[in-house]
Amino acid sequence: MDNIPPGPKGHPILGVMPEFNRDTLGFIERCKTYGDVVKARFFYVNAYFLYDPNDIEYLLSTNAKNFIKSMSLRSNFFSRLLGKGLLTSEGDFWRRQRRLAQPAFHRQRISSYGDVMVEFTERMCSKWQVGGTRDVHRDMMRLTLEIVARTLFNADVSGEADYVGKVLSEIVKPFASQATLKWIVDNRFPTPYHFRFHKLARQIDEIVYRIIAERRKSGRDEGDLLSMLLQAQDEDGSQMTDRQLRDEVMTLFLAGHETTALTLSWAWYLLGRDPETEKKFHDELDSVLDGRVPTFSDLPQLQFTEKIAKESMRLYPPAFGVGRQAIEACEIGGFHIPAKAQVFAFQWVTQRDARYFQNPQEFKPDRWTDELANSLPKYAYFPFGGGPRACIGNTFAMMEIILVLATIGQKFRLRLVSELEVGIMPAMSLRPKNDIKVVIERRA
Ligand code: HEM
Repeated sequence: MDNIPPGPKGHPILGVMPEFNRDTLGFIERCKTYGDVVKARFFYVNAYFLYDPNDIEYLLSTNAKNFIKSMSLRSNFFSRLLGKGLLTSEGDFWRRQRRLAQPAFHRQRISSYGDVMVEFTERMCSKWQVGGTRDVHRDMMRLTLEIVARTLFNADVSGEADYVGKVLSEIVKPFASQATLKWIVDNRFPTPYHFRFHKLARQIDEIVYRIIAERRKSGRDEGDLLSMLLQAQDEDGSQMTDRQLRDEVMTLFLAGHETTALTLSWAWYLLGRDPETEKKFHDELDSVLDGRVPTFSDLPQLQFTEKIAKESMRLYPPAFGVGRQAIEACEIGGFHIPAKAQVFAFQWVTQRDARYFQNPQEFKPDRWTDELANSLPKYAYFPFGGGPRACIGNTFAMMEIILVLATIGQKFRLRLVSELEVGIMPAMSLRPKNDIKVVIERRA
C-alpha cells in the first residue's frame, strides 16, 4: 500500500484552492500541523508540501535530477516572458546555459558592479528631501531596476527605466495569484488580460532586441553582463543566439530586480520598527565607513549590515516558496510521491519554524552567529533556493543589498510614518500590500 501523506480535504471540486487564495501564507502555515509532508489538492492537481529541511534538501539538491520546475513556471505567461532562460529551461539546454552564464556571476567579475550600485543609490538620495515622506518600496523598486539595467546593459537607462519598470510591473500583475481560475483562463484563452499581456511582452522584446543588436554591431566589451553573455563560448566554440540572449536578459531583468528590491524594502520596514537594531546598524556604518561612501572592499567589515540582510530574508523571503514536479515516483519522509506530482517547499514557513529558530517571529539580526550557521540544518534557511538550480545571482544580490543599505543608512534615518503592520501580498514574490511610508531624516 502506498503511504499517502495527510492533508486538508478542501472543497469537493476546487480542493484547497479557495482557502489558498483567501489566505496563502496562513494556509501553508496551517498545513504544517498535518506533519512534515502534506498532501493538498488544487482543483485537479495534487500538490505535496515539504516542511522538513532534510526533505527539502532531497528535493532541491540530493535528488534534484528526479525533478523539473513546477507547472506554474511552465505556464504560457512565463514561457512567453522568459522563454528558455535559466529560470525556466531544463535538462541539457539549461546545463549549457548555466555553464555559459556562470562566469559572469563570479565574485571577482561582479565586484566592479559595486561602484554602480553605490553611485545609483547616491543619485537617488540626492533627490530625497529631508523631512519629506516617501514610499520606500517604490524607491527600492526603481533603484534596483536601474542597477540591474546598468549592470546588464551598461546603458544609463534611468530615463527608460520608468517606462520599462511600468511595463514590467504591468506584465507581472496577472501573476498575483497563479492558483485562481482567472489565472488559468487568462493564461490559455484570448481574454482582454491575455491580449494586454502579450502586447506588453512584445514592447519589452523590442527594447531588448534593439539593445542586443546595437551591441553586436558595436562589438565593444562594455564589461557588463550582456558582454559576458555575448562572449561566452561553449567547449565546442558555440555561442548564444539572439533568442537565447534575449531569454537570459529577460530572466535576469525579472529575477534580479524585484527580489532585491523586496529584501531592501522589508529591511527598511523592520529597521524602522526596531530602533535598537537601527542604532547598532548606524554605529557599524560610522565605525567602518566614517563618512566615506562604501565600496566592494568594505563588505567583509559590514557584518552587522549583512546580518540585517540575512534576517530580513528569513522573515520576508522574496521567494516564499519553490516548486518542482517529480519525474518518477519517489519516497519523501516515508511517504509515496507519485510521478508528475507538484512538490513545494516554503521558505516562509520553514524559516519561521521554532524547531530551528528561537523566537522565530522576532527580528534579531544578532541570531546569525557562526554557531547558528554551523548547527542549522542546511535547508532550514534557503532564501536563494539550493542545489543545481540555486540562484545564480545570490552574491550579486547580497552585495547590492548591503551596499544600498550602507549608502543610505550612513546619511539618513528612514522613520516609519506608522507603526502599523504593512500587509503582505504573496504574489509571485512576497510584496508589501501597502506603501511603506517613511520620513527621511538626516542623521546628526
Ligand atoms: C534577494 C534577491 C534574490 C532572491 C531572494 C532570489 C531567489 C532565487 C531563488 C529562490 C531561486 C531558485 C528558484 C527555484 O529553485 O525554483 C533563484 C533562481 C535564480 N535567480 Fe535569484 N534571487 C535573488 C536575486 C537574483 C539576482 C540579483 C539575479 C540576477 C542578476 C537572480 C537570477 C536568478 C536566476 C537566473 C535564477 C535561475 C537559476 C537556474 O535555475 O539556473 N536572482 N533566485
